[in-house]
Amino acid sequence: MNVIVGKPLTRVDGRAKVTGGAQYAADFNQPGQLYAVIVSATVGLGRVSEIRSANIEAMPGVAAVITHSNAPKLPYLLHKGVIDPAVGERLHVLQDDAVRFFGQPVAIVVADSLDHAEHAAAALRIIYDARRPVVDHADPDVARIIPDAAGADRSRGDADAAVAEAAVTVDEHYDMARENHNPMEPHATIAAWNGDRLTLWSKSQFLMNEQAEIAAIFGLPAESVEVICPFIGGAFGTSLRTWPHVTLAALAAKHVQRPVKLVLTRKQMFFTTGHRPRSLQRVALGATQEGKLTGVIHEGTGETSRYEQFTEALTAVTDYLYSCPNVRTQYRLAPLDTGTPNHMRGPGEASGIFALESALDELSYKLGIDPIELRRRNEPQIDEAENKPFSSRSLIHCYELGAERFGWSRKTPEPRSMRDGRLLIGMGTATATYPAFHAPSNARVRLLADGTAEVEAAASDMGPGTYTSMTQVAAEFLGLQPAQVRFRLGTTDFPPTPSHGGSWTMTSVGSAIRAACLEAQFQAAKRAIADNGSPVFGASIDTIEWAEGRLRRRADASAGLSYQEILAKTGDPIEAEGSAQRDPEAAERYSMHSFGAVFAEVSIDPDVGTIRVRRLVGAYGIGRVVNPLLARSQCTGGMIGGMGMALMERTVLDARDGRPVNAHMADYLMPVNLDAPEMEALFVDEIDPHVNPLGVKGLGEIALVGTAPAIANAVFHATGKRVRTQPIKIEDIL
Ligand code: MOS
Repeated sequence: MNVIVGKPLTRVDGRAKVTGGAQYAADFNQPGQLYAVIVSATVGLGRVSEIRSANIEAMPGVAAVITHSNAPKLPYLLHKGVIDPAVGERLHVLQDDAVRFFGQPVAIVVADSLDHAEHAAAALRIIYDARRPVVDHADPDVARIIPDAAGADRSRGDADAAVAEAAVTVDEHYDMARENHNPMEPHATIAAWNGDRLTLWSKSQFLMNEQAEIAAIFGLPAESVEVICPFIGGAFGTSLRTWPHVTLAALAAKHVQRPVKLVLTRKQMFFTTGHRPRSLQRVALGATQEGKLTGVIHEGTGETSRYEQFTEALTAVTDYLYSCPNVRTQYRLAPLDTGTPNHMRGPGEASGIFALESALDELSYKLGIDPIELRRRNEPQIDEAENKPFSSRSLIHCYELGAERFGWSRKTPEPRSMRDGRLLIGMGTATATYPAFHAPSNARVRLLADGTAEVEAAASDMGPGTYTSMTQVAAEFLGLQPAQVRFRLGTTDFPPTPSHGGSWTMTSVGSAIRAACLEAQFQAAKRAIADNGSPVFGASIDTIEWAEGRLRRRADASAGLSYQEILAKTGDPIEAEGSAQRDPEAAERYSMHSFGAVFAEVSIDPDVGTIRVRRLVGAYGIGRVVNPLLARSQCTGGMIGGMGMALMERTVLDARDGRPVNAHMADYLMPVNLDAPEMEALFVDEIDPHVNPLGVKGLGEIALVGTAPAIANAVFHATGKRVRTQPIKIEDIL
């Protein structure tokens, strides 16, 4: 048996990435290209009353100044991709004089160099008729609306009565800061028209959506738009949607009739490319003295814009995570004068679980029960919300494995009871979970006469190692070595795939590649059977088998045929398409989620309140691990993201005009190498026969979930201070 899946293969694109061979969106410079710079609104609400552009057009190198007064009216046909909010209508750029939020694009300047474009953009005078925006989610005057999305409120039993009558209760409020994704690579698009055909070299986690969205905005058939994106320098969700800059690049290129390159500044990446919405939450728990949950209430509000309802899974994990007869969850939205938020790694779940897992930790101290033991006592036999079994669930196993590796038994229960010299030491733990999603996907496999294979899908690789892991899947099912497989992604010319997000790339695209490989093998077998010179000539399909890339009769293992030999006769390649989607019966019968347990150790200086994360250990049950090296990398990256959430990341808005005051890397803090603790990611052996034929549950999002509460719980253990806001600041614990 060819066992490639499960091997710690190093990245097939590693060399290209470290030698500069990998081309990112902004690297695809086109002959004759001009440079566009977006002018962002400097007020938070109101309208553009005057634009003084006459002298700008005469500045050196300037080719165009495009504003709402001279921009073409774009069709903006209806398009609801799976990633766009179901309710509301996307921002139409440069179509009217309205300013809906700070930083909204109000003009675009095109010039022969970036310098000239920036210089002219800076000189452009725009007069506004400004009003004061409402941007503070915590303002009691802000409306809380019930989202139109299904499942905003869920309930079983009578949670309010159960909590009111419980022997022991915790009832607290939580406040999680707005965050921005801040990947290394900024958003970038190069747009080039050829007649009515548009090519976009554009940073995207969802090429098919970008193609459909831009086609809809410009009123073109989808086939007229090609999107190319072979490499992504990190994204974390910010490139799931097609944001206004892509439209602006295409619009500008059409206007000047030249290719146009548009790269957002770091500052602009805080304006129109989504953000993790600030959330306000309440969790109330009721329990018996023995630690059995009797009631759980989880209420949460997320920010959205005025023009769209962005919803995420803020309270969605609460009714299946633990066993409890009475559970009520409620989800509300606060429309603000802000750009529409977007999914950011572990969206919703990561924020929601902070509140739930902080409350559970608090309950464990009230009860005097070890936090892991408390979770054990509330481990459900089935998904009690859906009333069906889990396809697999290894939560307790994750806690055991993680606790062992972390050395949880060394923890002394009392807060402030552990020290290292003068430093306070704290240990904390929390649960991680994320749905095992699966979406319909396609892929193509081509077997070539030289015995190698080409595999194609319109997927992206924002860093998890999709190039490598898909190569492994194809090699495994074709019976080839990874070096004999070339997997290509990153263009809409390839078979369509779902978004590169939601942790469903391997489940969806991987399953499609498997299907395409099996189809290619089937066709190769048919060709061999029909070939009167082949040792399997005339055999019936059920008497032959593939073993290590060779076709043979079951009865005679000695004689076999390689792809090369099968193809040699005519030299014609074999091309096969495959598609895959979740088995609807399995989806109906099982509840499918990944689970994990995260452990954190912090040291805190008691005099100045500085917090250091010393160690993080995450143990995960994610089904089959395709590549342990990549999986570990995913998890440590996610843990770092969770550490940012716990201690550093926060986009601060000026209440007067909605301006993000820390819209740059100096003041938007994120963990750097010096902050990075010792990290370990462990995977329990988990066989899940129900999720998909690969047995994979997805990994990208759960990697971030659970780390923030584990750290907050460790901070409590170290200091005795329960901080219910994120990020935790020095002043919170002094
Ligand atoms: Mo992930 S937030 O779906 O990129």
